[in-house]
Amino acid sequence: MGACLSVVLFFAKHTRLHVADKPAKVVLRPKFGSTSTTIALDQLVKRLCPAVLRPFVTPWWLFNGHLQTAYCAMGDFTKVNVVEFERTLLCTADGGTVGLDFTPSSETAPDAPILVVLTGLTGGSYESYIRAVLEPAYRSIQQGGLGYRAVIINFRGCSGVPVTSPYLYSAGCTSDMRAALLHISKLYPAAPLLGLGFSLGASVLIRYLGEEGNRSRIKSACVMGCPWDLYENCEYFTRNWLPCQIYARTMGQNLQRIIQLHAEQLSTLPAAAAAVSSILSTHRPTLKEVDAVVTTLTGSARAPFPFPDRDIDSYYRWASAQPHMDAIRVPVLALHAADDPVITITPVNSGIAVSPWVVFAVTPGGGHLGWFARRGDGSLGRWFVEPVLEWLRATAEEMDVPGLAAPREIVESGGVLREDGIDHVECRVISSGGSTLVAAGSAAVIQGL
Ligand SMILES: *[C@@H]1O[C@H](CO)[C@@H](O)[C@H](O)[C@H]1NC(C)=O
Repeated sequence: MGACLSVVLFFAKHTRLHVADKPAKVVLRPKFGSTSTTIALDQLVKRLCPAVLRPFVTPWWLFNGHLQTAYCAMGDFTKVNVVEFERTLLCTADGGTVGLDFTPSSETAPDAPILVVLTGLTGGSYESYIRAVLEPAYRSIQQGGLGYRAVIINFRGCSGVPVTSPYLYSAGCTSDMRAALLHISKLYPAAPLLGLGFSLGASVLIRYLGEEGNRSRIKSACVMGCPWDLYENCEYFTRNWLPCQIYARTMGQNLQRIIQLHAEQLSTLPAAAAAVSSILSTHRPTLKEVDAVVTTLTGSARAPFPFPDRDIDSYYRWASAQPHMDAIRVPVLALHAADDPVITITPVNSGIAVSPWVVFAVTPGGGHLGWFARRGDGSLGRWFVEPVLEWLRATAEEMDVPGLAAPREIVESGGVLREDGIDHVECRVISSGGSTLVAAGSAAVIQGL
């Protein structure tokens, strides 16, 4: 028993990789005149991202996923990794507005890799988990950074982005992300795009990669705390009272705040007016309650919206990223904490076969987007920063993905961008420039979820 326990504890301290029986192979760029070689994705991670497998050492007072998550949400990170952004607002096909925050670009080469970041449910570029990666990623090489450009896609209504159509956003809709990618690709045609998705944003990113397959504009991606199966993760809250009270209600309230901020605009959709006022008068709604009443109706201007009879189960099944995993054709690193109290169901722990293009790294601790650990110098920091930077650099600079087709052609007419074969996505620049110094400032009750 004792031996058994210590074996468990020993293994539990280490991150575990989960990959397909036959992981996909990528091409390693030749070095010093040698020829290029192919390497399986799990080997690429072991060789070029060794920080993923380094032990995860937490301070005693952050020993479980709840504490890790709470610290992420409640710690004061306003003075850590302060990042300045330049905001561009894009108008989409339905008249909605997407907010792109670019890191300052004067010194960055036009072909430098670009991190395309998608935030959590009601997040924005101010989130500390984003700035933790961004600051060293865009710092110049001379100053020890990667020297990359970064752009955060802020969802409609979040992080100060106005709502200009009656539609919000949804885990199942990639059209706003597509509009953003059109703008970014047009502006920097020679730059490789690297996806970085957190929680809900991770789900949107995975869905996009699956939808595009070998035509993806994104060359590689890293997702953290992705809710692969929205239906099953929500069912967990139905079965577990306390986590539901803490997490499902906090996320519900965060979304309720966004709806409250933009109630007038959302109510211009006749069918939504009653839904909006009903959810605003609900005391501490769960995420499922808000999604059922509002998201199933206003998640997008297009079919399958509105979902008939507020059918939340069909909505969650349709919007889940998991069914899209098999169609991915570019490398993805999926980080997940075994004690994530918000996203408890993953393809790994539900025994779903992992796509050859996805490497799952499951850490023994870290909570939901927390991952606070002791760094080499003894200070407290985010464990994921180092592995993520290694992954970004390795996939941007050391490898190529074999067998990719050209991305869809971008068609421009009268200042409006569209992509070949997709008729519901449009992108027009409304305003650009104007810098924002982002630290705190959010509509969320509790940040970091
Ligand atoms: C890309 O995928 C499509 C559809 O799966 C396939 O027909 C096509 O041959 C692929 N292209 C390349 C270059 O592999």
